[in-house]
Amino acid sequence: MIKKIYFSKIESTNDYAIKNIEELADRSVIFAEIQTKGKGRNGRLWYSEKNNLFASLILKPQLCFDELYKLTGFVHYAAVILTRVFKKHYNIKTLIKWPNDVFADGKKIAGILIETVIRGECLQGIVLGIGVNLNMSEESLKKIDKSATSLNILSGIEIKRDEFLEHFLEEFFLQYNKFLKQGFTLIKKEYSLLSMILGKKVNVISSGKKYIGDALNIDEKGRIVLKCSDKVIALNIGDVTLL
Ligand code: BTN
Repeated sequence: MIKKIYFSKIESTNDYAIKNIEELADRSVIFAEIQTKGKGRNGRLWYSEKNNLFASLILKPQLCFDELYKLTGFVHYAAVILTRVFKKHYNIKTLIKWPNDVFADGKKIAGILIETVIRGECLQGIVLGIGVNLNMSEESLKKIDKSATSLNILSGIEIKRDEFLEHFLEEFFLQYNKFLKQGFTLIKKEYSLLSMILGKKVNVISSGKKYIGDALNIDEKGRIVLKCSDKVIALNIGDVTLL
Protein backbone atom coordinates (compact mmCIF):
# COMPACT_ATOMS: atom_id res chain seq x y z
CA MET A 1 0.00 0.00 0.00
CA ILE A 2 1.38 3.38 -0.99
CA LYS A 3 0.36 6.26 1.26
CA LYS A 4 0.07 9.58 -0.58
CA ILE A 5 0.29 12.88 1.27
CA TYR A 6 -0.79 15.96 -0.65
CA PHE A 7 0.02 19.64 -0.04
CA SER A 8 -1.43 22.53 -2.01
CA LYS A 9 1.72 24.52 -1.17
CA ILE A 10 4.99 23.43 0.40
CA GLU A 11 8.57 24.71 0.43
CA SER A 12 10.03 21.46 -0.88
CA THR A 13 8.59 17.94 -0.83
CA ASN A 14 12.11 16.56 -0.32
CA ASP A 15 12.74 18.81 2.69
CA TYR A 16 9.41 17.82 4.22
CA ALA A 17 10.22 14.14 3.71
CA ILE A 18 13.67 14.49 5.26
CA LYS A 19 12.34 16.39 8.28
CA ASN A 20 9.61 13.83 8.90
CA ILE A 21 11.40 10.69 7.81
CA GLU A 22 11.00 8.95 11.17
CA GLU A 23 7.21 9.06 11.10
CA LEU A 24 6.82 8.46 7.37
CA ALA A 25 6.19 4.88 6.33
CA ASP A 26 8.19 3.04 3.72
CA ARG A 27 6.72 3.80 0.26
CA SER A 28 4.91 7.01 1.28
CA VAL A 29 4.75 9.76 -1.30
CA ILE A 30 4.66 13.47 -0.61
CA PHE A 31 3.41 15.53 -3.53
CA ALA A 32 2.41 19.14 -3.96
CA GLU A 33 0.66 21.55 -6.25
CA ILE A 34 3.30 24.24 -5.79
CA GLN A 35 6.76 24.31 -4.21
CA THR A 36 8.06 27.65 -3.01
CA LYS A 37 11.66 26.43 -2.55
CA GLY A 38 11.88 23.48 -4.94
CA LYS A 39 15.43 22.13 -4.88
CA GLY A 40 17.42 20.95 -7.86
CA ARG A 41 20.77 19.19 -7.84
CA ASN A 42 23.89 21.05 -6.71
CA GLY A 43 22.03 23.74 -4.81
CA ARG A 44 20.05 24.87 -7.81
CA LEU A 45 16.41 25.90 -7.65
CA TRP A 46 13.69 23.76 -9.25
CA TYR A 47 11.09 25.94 -10.93
CA SER A 48 7.83 24.70 -9.40
CA GLU A 49 4.61 26.22 -10.73
CA LYS A 50 1.27 24.42 -10.58
CA ASN A 51 0.08 21.68 -12.97
CA ASN A 52 3.43 19.91 -12.91
CA LEU A 53 4.69 17.03 -10.81
CA PHE A 54 6.69 17.56 -7.63
CA ALA A 55 6.88 14.39 -5.60
CA SER A 56 9.13 12.69 -3.07
CA LEU A 57 8.98 8.97 -2.56
CA ILE A 58 10.18 7.66 0.80
CA LEU A 59 11.94 4.32 0.69
CA LYS A 60 13.20 2.43 3.69
CA PRO A 61 15.08 -0.64 2.54
CA GLN A 62 16.82 -2.41 5.43
CA LEU A 63 20.44 -1.59 4.65
CA CYS A 64 23.37 -1.28 6.99
CA PHE A 65 26.61 0.58 6.49
CA ASP A 66 28.41 -2.14 4.53
CA GLU A 67 25.45 -2.45 2.15
CA LEU A 68 25.09 1.24 1.32
CA TYR A 69 26.95 0.69 -1.96
CA LYS A 70 23.68 -0.84 -3.20
CA LEU A 71 22.28 2.68 -3.35
CA THR A 72 24.65 3.79 -6.09
CA GLY A 73 22.33 2.81 -8.94
CA PHE A 74 19.22 4.36 -7.42
CA VAL A 75 19.36 7.59 -9.39
CA HIS A 76 19.91 5.63 -12.60
CA TYR A 77 17.02 3.30 -11.78
CA ALA A 78 14.64 6.22 -11.21
CA ALA A 79 15.71 7.84 -14.49
CA VAL A 80 15.13 4.60 -16.43
CA ILE A 81 11.68 4.27 -14.86
CA LEU A 82 10.78 7.79 -15.99
CA THR A 83 11.85 7.03 -19.57
CA ARG A 84 9.69 3.88 -19.49
CA VAL A 85 6.66 5.90 -18.33
CA PHE A 86 7.13 8.55 -21.02
CA LYS A 87 7.34 5.86 -23.71
CA LYS A 88 4.69 3.42 -22.49
CA HIS A 89 1.95 5.87 -21.55
CA TYR A 90 2.63 8.94 -23.71
CA ASN A 91 4.64 7.49 -26.59
CA ILE A 92 7.41 10.02 -26.03
CA LYS A 93 11.01 8.94 -26.51
CA THR A 94 13.29 10.34 -23.83
CA LEU A 95 17.00 9.96 -23.15
CA ILE A 96 19.14 10.23 -20.03
CA LYS A 97 21.96 12.70 -19.46
CA TRP A 98 24.19 10.98 -16.90
CA PRO A 99 23.49 10.47 -14.14
CA ASN A 100 19.78 11.22 -13.99
CA ASP A 101 18.48 14.09 -16.10
CA VAL A 102 15.72 13.10 -18.48
CA PHE A 103 15.69 14.82 -21.85
CA ALA A 104 13.25 14.90 -24.77
CA ASP A 105 14.06 16.62 -28.02
CA GLY A 106 17.42 17.72 -26.58
CA LYS A 107 15.70 19.61 -23.74
CA LYS A 108 15.27 18.70 -20.10
CA ILE A 109 11.84 17.37 -19.16
CA ALA A 110 12.45 15.82 -15.73
CA GLY A 111 14.97 15.86 -12.90
CA ILE A 112 15.68 13.62 -9.94
CA LEU A 113 17.13 14.55 -6.57
CA ILE A 114 17.95 11.70 -4.22
CA GLU A 115 18.81 12.39 -0.60
CA THR A 116 19.60 9.82 2.07
CA VAL A 117 19.15 10.00 5.81
CA ILE A 118 21.63 7.91 7.79
CA ARG A 119 21.27 7.26 11.48
CA GLY A 120 24.22 5.69 13.26
CA GLU A 121 25.22 2.63 11.26
CA CYS A 122 22.00 2.28 9.32
CA LEU A 123 20.06 3.88 6.58
CA GLN A 124 16.97 5.53 7.94
CA GLY A 125 15.51 6.31 4.56
CA ILE A 126 15.94 7.45 1.02
CA VAL A 127 14.05 10.43 -0.33
CA LEU A 128 13.63 10.16 -4.06
CA GLY A 129 12.45 13.52 -5.38
CA ILE A 130 11.16 13.81 -8.91
CA GLY A 131 10.20 16.93 -10.76
CA VAL A 132 8.48 16.50 -14.13
CA ASN A 133 7.41 19.23 -16.51
CA LEU A 134 3.91 18.03 -17.31
CA ASN A 135 1.96 21.13 -18.28
CA MET A 136 4.23 24.11 -18.86
CA SER A 137 3.48 26.98 -21.20
CA GLU A 138 6.14 28.20 -23.63
CA GLU A 139 6.12 31.39 -21.57
CA SER A 140 6.95 29.57 -18.33
CA LEU A 141 9.63 27.45 -19.98
CA LYS A 142 11.48 30.66 -20.82
CA LYS A 143 11.79 31.35 -17.08
CA ILE A 144 13.98 28.24 -16.67
CA ASP A 145 17.65 29.09 -17.13
CA LYS A 146 18.45 25.95 -19.16
CA SER A 147 16.67 24.70 -22.24
CA ALA A 148 13.58 22.77 -21.07
CA THR A 149 10.46 21.18 -22.49
CA SER A 150 7.20 19.79 -21.17
CA LEU A 151 5.10 16.69 -21.80
CA ASN A 152 1.97 18.62 -22.84
CA ILE A 153 3.92 20.38 -25.57
CA LEU A 154 5.41 17.15 -26.90
CA SER A 155 2.20 15.12 -26.74
CA GLY A 156 -0.27 17.85 -27.62
CA ILE A 157 -2.55 16.95 -24.71
CA GLU A 158 -3.06 18.21 -21.19
CA ILE A 159 -1.42 15.80 -18.75
CA LYS A 160 -3.19 14.59 -15.63
CA ARG A 161 -0.66 14.84 -12.82
CA ASP A 162 -2.19 12.18 -10.58
CA GLU A 163 -2.34 9.74 -13.45
CA PHE A 164 1.33 10.35 -14.29
CA LEU A 165 2.29 9.81 -10.65
CA GLU A 166 0.33 6.52 -10.59
CA HIS A 167 2.13 5.32 -13.72
CA PHE A 168 5.48 6.23 -12.20
CA LEU A 169 4.79 4.41 -8.93
CA GLU A 170 3.47 1.34 -10.68
CA GLU A 171 6.47 1.14 -12.97
CA PHE A 172 8.89 1.89 -10.12
CA PHE A 173 7.69 -0.93 -7.88
CA LEU A 174 7.45 -3.51 -10.67
CA GLN A 175 11.18 -4.19 -10.43
CA TYR A 176 12.06 -2.51 -7.15
CA ASN A 177 12.73 -5.68 -5.17
CA LYS A 178 14.77 -7.12 -8.00
CA PHE A 179 16.71 -3.85 -8.19
CA LEU A 180 17.47 -3.98 -4.46
CA LYS A 181 19.06 -7.40 -4.96
CA GLN A 182 20.87 -6.80 -8.23
CA GLY A 183 21.59 -3.07 -8.16
CA PHE A 184 22.69 -1.21 -11.27
CA THR A 185 23.42 -4.45 -13.17
CA LEU A 186 19.68 -4.94 -13.59
CA ILE A 187 19.35 -1.85 -15.77
CA LYS A 188 22.90 -1.27 -17.05
CA LYS A 189 22.16 -2.30 -20.63
CA GLU A 190 18.91 -0.33 -20.89
CA TYR A 191 20.52 2.68 -19.19
CA SER A 192 23.43 2.68 -21.64
CA LEU A 193 21.09 2.48 -24.63
CA LEU A 194 19.17 5.47 -23.27
CA SER A 195 22.28 7.55 -22.68
CA MET A 196 22.51 10.78 -24.65
CA ILE A 197 26.20 11.28 -23.90
CA LEU A 198 27.94 8.01 -24.74
CA GLY A 199 30.35 8.39 -27.63
CA LYS A 200 30.21 12.19 -27.30
CA LYS A 201 32.72 14.77 -26.13
CA VAL A 202 31.69 16.14 -22.76
CA ASN A 203 32.65 18.53 -20.02
CA VAL A 204 32.09 17.15 -16.51
CA ILE A 205 32.30 19.17 -13.31
CA SER A 206 32.82 16.68 -10.50
CA SER A 207 33.67 17.61 -6.90
CA GLY A 208 34.77 21.06 -8.05
CA LYS A 209 37.10 19.73 -10.78
CA LYS A 210 36.60 20.06 -14.51
CA TYR A 211 37.15 17.10 -16.86
CA ILE A 212 36.95 17.20 -20.63
CA GLY A 213 36.91 13.96 -22.55
CA ASP A 214 35.04 11.38 -24.57
CA ALA A 215 32.28 9.54 -22.72
CA LEU A 216 33.29 5.90 -23.29
CA ASN A 217 30.77 3.98 -21.22
CA ILE A 218 28.89 3.61 -17.96
CA ASP A 219 30.55 1.03 -15.73
CA GLU A 220 28.96 -1.60 -13.47
CA LYS A 221 28.76 0.95 -10.63
CA GLY A 222 26.91 3.49 -12.73
CA ARG A 223 30.00 5.68 -13.05
CA ILE A 224 30.79 7.57 -16.22
CA VAL A 225 34.03 6.43 -17.86
CA LEU A 226 35.83 9.24 -19.63
CA LYS A 227 38.85 9.23 -21.91
CA CYS A 228 40.66 12.45 -21.09
CA SER A 229 43.72 12.87 -23.39
CA ASP A 230 45.93 9.94 -22.27
CA LYS A 231 43.99 8.87 -19.17
CA VAL A 232 40.81 6.91 -18.62
CA ILE A 233 38.90 7.91 -15.50
CA ALA A 234 35.61 6.94 -13.86
CA LEU A 235 33.52 9.52 -12.03
CA ASN A 236 30.82 8.85 -9.44
CA ILE A 237 29.04 12.18 -9.59
CA GLY A 238 29.05 15.25 -11.75
CA ASP A 239 27.35 17.75 -13.93
CA VAL A 240 27.70 17.03 -17.64
CA THR A 241 27.62 19.43 -20.56
CA LEU A 242 27.79 18.15 -24.12
CA LEU A 243 30.51 19.86 -26.15
C1 BTN B 1 17.47 18.33 -10.81
O1 BTN B 1 17.42 17.92 -11.98
O2 BTN B 1 18.20 19.28 -10.52
C2 BTN B 1 16.66 17.64 -9.74
C3 BTN B 1 15.30 18.26 -9.60
C4 BTN B 1 14.44 17.60 -8.55
C5 BTN B 1 13.17 18.37 -8.29
C6 BTN B 1 12.23 17.64 -7.39
S1 BTN B 1 10.63 18.36 -7.33
C7 BTN B 1 10.18 17.33 -6.02
C8 BTN B 1 11.37 17.21 -5.10
N1 BTN B 1 11.40 18.29 -4.13
C9 BTN B 1 12.39 19.14 -4.33
O3 BTN B 1 12.61 20.17 -3.65
N2 BTN B 1 13.13 18.74 -5.36
C10 BTN B 1 12.65 17.50 -5.93
